[in-house]
Amino acid sequence: MPFSEKKLHEFYSEVGESERLSVLDTSALPAHIAIIMDGNGRWAEKQGLSRSKGHAAGVDALRETITACVRLGIPVLSAYAFSTENWKRPKKEVDFLMQLFADTLIKELPLFHQEEVKLKLIGDLSELPKKTQDTFQKGLRETAQYGNMTLVLAVNYGGRAEIVRATKRIVEQGYKPEVLTEDLFAQNLYTEGLPDPDLLIRTSGEMRLSNFLLFQLAYAEFYLTDTLWPDFSRSDLLSALLAYQKRNRRFGKAK
Ligand code: FPP
Repeated sequence: MPFSEKKLHEFYSEVGESERLSVLDTSALPAHIAIIMDGNGRWAEKQGLSRSKGHAAGVDALRETITACVRLGIPVLSAYAFSTENWKRPKKEVDFLMQLFADTLIKELPLFHQEEVKLKLIGDLSELPKKTQDTFQKGLRETAQYGNMTLVLAVNYGGRAEIVRATKRIVEQGYKPEVLTEDLFAQNLYTEGLPDPDLLIRTSGEMRLSNFLLFQLAYAEFYLTDTLWPDFSRSDLLSALLAYQKRNRRFGKAK
């Protein structure tokens, strides 16, 4: 964290949520926030709980973040739930996560309806267990008409795989190399039609992209926090947004 941001962080840690909200410029919020929800396992281990309990607590943090983003009027929120590399985890943990995704989606569907949140899934869903796929399809169908916010869940997602997939799609459509543009490429990514993330949040102190939205994050501002994902609260989200609003986004231009 840069020095000035550390000071800001220290300052905000002493004031409450309402103070943070009062200094937030609601006319300059990100159009898209992407989150790498990291640290569920460590959160659980620190308290002598199983990793599964950490993932379950991670769902609570995600619910709170979704609600806060809807209230703030953030149009798109993306959350990295399962990467193409996460299959390398013990089978017991992978099975638990797949079941958790299905159960959570069913349990949280009323929230999607109440807040009018549209679900979008990115990643190769065909490799997921049938039950998880079926509940995801139900979630997609039932929320397709909503426009308050789009929640993008990345499941069995990898940025490199997405880029290869987009390239294959473009070749299959018979485009000649000379007509290929960044826009055409973006139209063939899973995130077609969505704005690129302005802000990437990663919890748990790790400083990596871990194969998340490699093309789309080109000009995102990064906010890294030591907070473990299950402890990430509305106040932490506000701190991230305040830090984002202090950044000087130049997009490669000189001042
Ligand atoms: C990273 O923490 C977290 C995950 C791989 C799973 C994220 C999933 C959730 C928060 C549940 C979301 C639910 C739905 C329905 C999308 P980690 O296990 O890598 O933590 P560690 O680095 O401390 O081990």
